[in-house]
Amino acid sequence: MVNSLFNYYLKRFGNSKIASVIRKIPMAGIYIHIPFCKQACYYCNFHFSTLLSYKEKLVAAIAKELFLRKDSLAGETIDTIYFGGGTPSLLSESEFYTIYEAITQHYNIEHLKEFTLEANPDDLSDKFLNWLKHTPVDRLSIGIQSFEDVHLKYMNRAHTAAEAITSVQKAQSIGINRISIDLIYGIPGMEMHTWENNLNKAFSLEIDHLSSYCLTLEPNTVFGKLLKKEKMSMPKEESSSAQFNTLQSMSAANGFLQYEISNFGKAGAFALHNTNYWNNESYLGVGPGAHSFFPGQRMWNISNNQQYMRSIEKNELPLETENLSLADQFNEYVMTGLRTMWGIDLAMIEKRFGIEKSAQIKKDLAKHIASGKLLANENSLLLSKDGKFFADGIASDAFIVNP
Ligand SMILES: C[S@@+](CC[C@H](N)C(=O)[O-])C[C@H]1O[C@@H](n2cnc3c(N)ncnc32)[C@H](O)[C@@H]1O
Ligand code: SF4
Repeated sequence: MVNSLFNYYLKRFGNSKIASVIRKIPMAGIYIHIPFCKQACYYCNFHFSTLLSYKEKLVAAIAKELFLRKDSLAGETIDTIYFGGGTPSLLSESEFYTIYEAITQHYNIEHLKEFTLEANPDDLSDKFLNWLKHTPVDRLSIGIQSFEDVHLKYMNRAHTAAEAITSVQKAQSIGINRISIDLIYGIPGMEMHTWENNLNKAFSLEIDHLSSYCLTLEPNTVFGKLLKKEKMSMPKEESSSAQFNTLQSMSAANGFLQYEISNFGKAGAFALHNTNYWNNESYLGVGPGAHSFFPGQRMWNISNNQQYMRSIEKNELPLETENLSLADQFNEYVMTGLRTMWGIDLAMIEKRFGIEKSAQIKKDLAKHIASGKLLANENSLLLSKDGKFFADGIASDAFIVNP
């Protein structure tokens, strides 16, 4: 289970001055999962339904879950709110406020620092953006994926490349300054010059944050099924790793710091909510399929909209809990820490897991230090630029097996 949870986090947040400060301060966040999409993208294995008729009813259940779980972050102030999905930009004004008001009623958001909403370009009409301007949302994460119509069609996206560009420009023109976009590389048939064009277009839009993931094929998606029937093939690993390399170089050349393997931000523009995940801070995840984390404990809601609503109606929480052993916590710290630009903090390992673990990890990872994939400082272990492509394999070499 831990592995599937890891995959979830890596995909979800997938991967400066502010961030180095926030690492040290305990934070708490609320994640709301909106499990609806207009149409299914052929690669996507996140939890969503394309049946929108009961959206309002499900939103009411989310508001009730926020009430039922109000004690889980009791005494904490909420630093970040993140509406993700699925497609949160499908929410109507009244649905958005039903959820937001439940948050304000039951949680302390007096010191809120960031409020992100994931949006798809085709939803960002003038009307939607003008409404959004008056909400507390101060950061948009726009799922663009590609600036090439041929690839958007291939992946069954619901928007065009032109809509992708204008959605960013319109959001900027109404004063939303914090904009992140998502791009996918490693798409079959995508050549290097096309990927470079995509990145050039992204940087020309003057966004302050970019999340970029290599296409992964999940068995329960259209692409996964086509692959199984040998009706499609994936690019060679050398091609994806070359695109990842270009992503790193072009981001750096444009003033973006790779603060997590898949996440690049200008100084001061790192996503606080996502950094919270990587620092193992507490967060409450609400809605079908949402995950929560509290010290030593993970929880995940059922990924079925109807069962979720039935359970909430009966005042029952539709969730499962996993208590994390010390070994699980060590492995998670190594996995997430290694993916960030701060790396693994050896003093932290010593404090949380004992002095012998700090010595052990250096031994376990010695071959990666020797090969240059891992850089060892006095107090930390960091992936080198090339090592970042092998993050998961390197982390697993340091894992402790549960006794
Ligand atoms: C699940 S979506 C939610 C946001 C929004 N609905 C959208 O389409 O952009 C979040 C991001 O996950 C990434 N993603 C989802 N499935 C993926 C896959 N199989 N391979 C690579 N990236 C993926 C996409 O970049 C997407 O923007
Ligand atoms: S990528 Fe986004 S829009 Fe596409 S199916 Fe997944 S959640 Fe929905």
